[in-house]
Amino acid sequence: MPHSPLEAFLSDTESAVKGSADPKVVSDAVAEALRRLIAAPFYLEDRHRQPSPDGIACHQVFRHPAGIFRLVSVVWAPKQATPIHDHGSWGVVAALDHHIVASGYRRLDDGSTPGFASLGEFSRALVSDLSLHVLRPGEDVIHRLENPFPDPAVTLHVFGAEPEAQSYFDTRAKSLMSVSGAWTIGV
Ligand SMILES: [Fe+2]
Repeated sequence: MPHSPLEAFLSDTESAVKGSADPKVVSDAVAEALRRLIAAPFYLEDRHRQPSPDGIACHQVFRHPAGIFRLVSVVWAPKQATPIHDHGSWGVVAALDHHIVASGYRRLDDGSTPGFASLGEFSRALVSDLSLHVLRPGEDVIHRLENPFPDPAVTLHVFGAEPEAQSYFDTRAKSLMSVSGAWTIGV
C-alpha cells in the first residue's frame, strides 16, 4: 500500500528526528522532506485552510504522539505579521499558497541581563514553495514572519519537541519576555 505524500512526509520527519541528536541535521532533513511534500500532489484539507477573524490562523495538522514534532498550517490575511520571537526548538517553514517574508535576527548582547535583549536583523527573505525558512538552534532561531502582499497566503510549519521556554522580543524597548508552556507560539 503506497503512502500518501503526507504519510511519507510524517514518516521521513519521524526518521529524521529519531536519527540524529543534532538539531541542524534534523532541520535540514525535515526541510528536504517538506520540499518533497509540497512538490507532491498534496491536498491540505479545507479545515486547515480556514482564516481567523482574530488574526493569523494556526491549525495543528499533526502532532507526533510522543511530542517530538508537529506540523501546523498557517493562514495569513494580507498585511498580517508576527512579533519577533523564537520557538526554543528547530523549525522549518514553507509556503503552500503564495508567499510570506521571513526576517532573521541575532542577539547583539551576551544574554546576561534578565529581560534585556539587543537584536540585529541579519536576513530578510521570501518564503515560497522552493525557498524554505529553516530555524537551526545555535544559528538562526529568532525571527519575524509577515505577509506584506495583497494576497492571502497559506504556509506549513514544522517544529521540534516542546521547549521549556519560548521568547517574544521588543526591539524598541530592547526587552524580551519568556513564556513557558507547551508550544505557546504557534507560528
Ligand atoms: Fe515562528
